Amino acid sequence: MTILVTGGAGFIGSNFVLEWIAATGEPVVNLDKLTYAGNPANLASLAGDARHRFVRGDIADVPLLERLFAEHRPRAVVHFAAESHVDRSIHGPAPFIDTNVVGTFRLLEASRAWRESLEGEARDAFRFLHVSTDEVYGSLGEGDPAFSETTAYAPNSPYSASKAASDHLVRAYHHTYGFPAVTTNCSNNYGPYQHPEKLIPLVILHVLEGKPLPIYGDGLQVRDWLHVRDHCRAIEQVLLAGRAGETYNVGGQAESTNLDLVRQLAAVLDQCFAKDPLLRRRYPRSPAGQPAGAASLIRHVADRPGHDRRYATSNSKIEREVGFRPEETLKSGLRYTVTWYLEHEDWWRSAMDGRYHEWMKKQYGGLVSF
Ligand code: NAD
Ligand code: TYD
Repeated sequence: MTILVTGGAGFIGSNFVLEWIAATGEPVVNLDKLTYAGNPANLASLAGDARHRFVRGDIADVPLLERLFAEHRPRAVVHFAAESHVDRSIHGPAPFIDTNVVGTFRLLEASRAWRESLEGEARDAFRFLHVSTDEVYGSLGEGDPAFSETTAYAPNSPYSASKAASDHLVRAYHHTYGFPAVTTNCSNNYGPYQHPEKLIPLVILHVLEGKPLPIYGDGLQVRDWLHVRDHCRAIEQVLLAGRAGETYNVGGQAESTNLDLVRQLAAVLDQCFAKDPLLRRRYPRSPAGQPAGAASLIRHVADRPGHDRRYATSNSKIEREVGFRPEETLKSGLRYTVTWYLEHEDWWRSAMDGRYHEWMKKQYGGLVSF
């Protein structure tokens, strides 16, 4: 038995591959193009492990997909590969259409052809799990109920529109061809191996380097944060017990404004600084040279165009049907994540390559100076 994972060198995909192999021992073929977001260092602990076969390639490359299906005969596909950063989709939407829409379409076609070639039990058991986002539902008002699986799609960014398009293709493949696909729509993730340009790692690493913490607009936008380990567990459970053709929302039950989140992170970092003399040397200082809390680095900058105000995601269905509930609280998850970044300086330094610096200049150059 083998599964095919796409995008398994990215943030969530690599966490999933590591946990899957550790928990089940089932081999994984990991297809990843290694864009700026894909990092082989995430998978370093699997070096020499025969249960992990890494293939560098594009999900839109049909001959490659056909070869991988024929050679490895996967019983399931878990599809993470995507362009995933909203701000990048605003600067340049084209790769979002290429990978999230066209790439998903080609992967669906190759997966459908593979499944059609199977017989009996193997054909019945085949599953395609499409990993998507709660951003397809658009923005909530302050008092609105959380997104459910029946909330109408209303994507607002090129990223969320491209993910919505891929969700619709997956739905149509089930409806039209009886293709056994399941979709998960998940809230904002955080945890180990998240690219340093995303909000939580950015804040941790900027505090360590004494750089400003850019908050878009008033910082009162709300996100529902889910620890990546909980997300991976949800995917495993849906793969096992989810019903073909269904969609399952996955929320963290941890709503926070961006400003509160950054303040919480700053407080955790202050505690770490207070305990550790080596870290204390890096402690942010006031202009007069006095120690100042990490929150003193917060700077409000121009808002993101079309910035969604609030996301919140209900877990009612996934809890009822597959028994999933997040285990990590925001408090425990942030503490764990800060510790992980403090202990993995080699990893984040290597992730801050030329492409990272180019992005930071493009995104923040005119807003704030680092
Ligand atoms: P990521 O950007 O960290 O990783 C994406 C991975 O896909 C990278 O390794 C990249 O190299 C690979 N990739 C990109 N284009 C490819 C292509 N054409 N062919 C093969 N590989 C390709 O993203 P992530 O945060 O790990 O997100 C994974 C999935 O989860 C995405 O589908 C995303 O939409 C979804 N999601 C993410 C979040 C979040 O908060 N990060 C929340 C909900 C859903
Ligand atoms: P992000 O991780 O890009 O996720 P989302 O897909 O929800 O937009 O950003 C999370 C939130 O943090 C989002 O509301 C935008 C905000 N944000 C900032 O305020 N400053 C930043 O530098 C970044 C990267 C994000």
